[in-house]
Amino acid sequence: MQEEGGDVIERRVREIYGGLLESGEPVREPGRAVEVLKDRFNLVVERRLVTIVYASFMNGRPVLFEGPPGTGKTEVGEALLELWAGKKPFVLPCSENYDEYKVIGDFHPAMAMAKGFNEESFIPRPLLAALILDTGVLVDEIRRSNEDFQNLLLDIADKRRIIVPELRRVFRARGPGYQLIFTSNPEDIAQNELSDAFLRRVVRVRFDYPPREVEERIIALRASREGPELGGEVRHVILEIVSRLRREGLVHKPGVAESVLLVRMAQSIARLKGRRRVTLEDVAEAAMSVLAKRVEDEDAVKAVVGEVLRVEVL
Ligand SMILES: Nc1ncnc2c1ncn2[C@@H]1O[C@H](COP(=O)(O)OP(=O)(O)OP(=O)(O)O)[C@@H](O)[C@H]1O
Ligand SMILES: [Mg+2]
Repeated sequence: MQEEGGDVIERRVREIYGGLLESGEPVREPGRAVEVLKDRFNLVVERRLVTIVYASFMNGRPVLFEGPPGTGKTEVGEALLELWAGKKPFVLPCSENYDEYKVIGDFHPAMAMAKGFNEESFIPRPLLAALILDTGVLVDEIRRSNEDFQNLLLDIADKRRIIVPELRRVFRARGPGYQLIFTSNPEDIAQNELSDAFLRRVVRVRFDYPPREVEERIIALRASREGPELGGEVRHVILEIVSRLRREGLVHKPGVAESVLLVRMAQSIARLKGRRRVTLEDVAEAAMSVLAKRVEDEDAVKAVVGEVLRVEVL
């Protein structure tokens, strides 16, 4: 097979995707990465997590982020790939019918009819583009894809090369920027198991609900800067409500995503009422809509919100 050089496909990849990925210098020192994650991405991430991810990248191992919904897997994954490569990553949201044509490349039907199955009619897709441009790929919700697709990804990650048989070509990774992070939420319904072969080859990083002081820092960072102002009591009740609900055995447990949304919704409600400070009533008004996502959960959410806020929840 022909080895890859400067050519039609490379040029096309740069034309299509090059401009989208510009970011800055790579940040490969974990302590510095923690600061940039906070300042530029509004993310609170432990240094230990950055270190294990970077160590996996240094060993060419893909990383699996696994944990409950709304705990930062997707955003942290994207941000770490960006800092490591110094370029934005590609994001592949998985679905059952993904195959190599959708992620590596396929042929433009009319062009292929006219000119044949060759480089002129080939349309490069994100996985091949990432390899050529030396940037990362976030494979989101890997359990939603089928086993053949998972094996395809692992083979590419292991060998750091992609074969396109129709073109009789092998494309190889150019540098260390090309890395994979998978995300998965094992509690999600309607999805596939991950095979042993898959799990053996990845480095698994467990995500969970953060300790209360960390979540407090996150909501402070993510609250609207323009206000209305959040007092200590409002922050306290929001964290108390979500932490109790996580212990309640709900079908839909609130993640950090929900605490942040509850803060921002209460701020918007206060603003719509023309007030400068968020009150407990604003939290009560937002709470059911933000936290009770399933009919089965409504009673439990109502009870917890009512108890913590000492109000009757409508
Ligand atoms: N460590 C964190 N720092 C700051 N914000 C966070 C953090 N973790 C979660 N969040 C908040 O949660 C939101 C959702 O995060 P994200 O989508 O990455 O979660 P996820 O684990 O991928 O969820 P899902 O399983 O539903 O896809 C973010 O937009 C942010 O508001
Ligand atoms: Mg996600």
